[in-house]
Amino acid sequence: MTDIQHIDVFFSLQAFQEEELRGKTAVIIDVLRASSSIATAIHNGAKKVIPVADMSDAMKIATTMDQKDYLLCGEKNGIKIDGYQLGNSPAEYGPDVVKDKTLIFNTTNGTKAIKKASLANEVLVGTFLNQQSIINALQGREGEVALICSGWRGRISIEDILFAGSMLHTICEGNLPAAAKDGAKVAFGLFQKYGDDIEQAIRESDYAKRLADVVSSEDLAFCCKVNEFDVLPGMRDGILTNLNG
Ligand code: MLT
Repeated sequence: MTDIQHIDVFFSLQAFQEEELRGKTAVIIDVLRASSSIATAIHNGAKKVIPVADMSDAMKIATTMDQKDYLLCGEKNGIKIDGYQLGNSPAEYGPDVVKDKTLIFNTTNGTKAIKKASLANEVLVGTFLNQQSIINALQGREGEVALICSGWRGRISIEDILFAGSMLHTICEGNLPAAAKDGAKVAFGLFQKYGDDIEQAIRESDYAKRLADVVSSEDLAFCCKVNEFDVLPGMRDGILTNLNG
């Protein structure tokens, strides 16, 4: 089982170097909304999710596939990309739409963080919706863990740090040891301050203000639900599938 002293938290995707993740388990966190859409899609039967860093990578992959097998998914500044079938709202990823499909997924921060973590020993995608699955997985792993908050274009996002803090709070049963790393202490402390009402904290976040015109109130509420899905999106050869499947 992973010792809490071996868990560090990075506060944006720009806050780590690729090489730093070698040999570690990385959990990529983008509560609003890439991690939440990916967890929902996988729960609803998507066969694979291929995260990409930009539109040109998405098109390169799409041209190698049969059109009936894939969906182009993602957003730029919260809005569905022109020509894509789906945007980045978890509500779009119902079983009728995604079952047995491969999703080529392209978002502003979340999928870039997933791609950047590719040197890690293992890459998992976590959010409140699948919190316990991530905790269970970490308890079966040895070695260092990096909780990577995607943030927004280099800035921190409270919702991602709250999720990291929520995981730490559960793992150490509310008592963070003094030997915990600084990043863990910050995330844990933030969770202690705002964790009683995550939804309220998220409604008052920079993200909620920034994307007030494009992200629905229902999306914000949905992404705050804890342990809705028992899925473990994990990367193998550049592709996310359900490692609990
Ligand atoms: C991102 O990758 O920055 C987000 O998932 C943006 C969004 O919520 O659409």
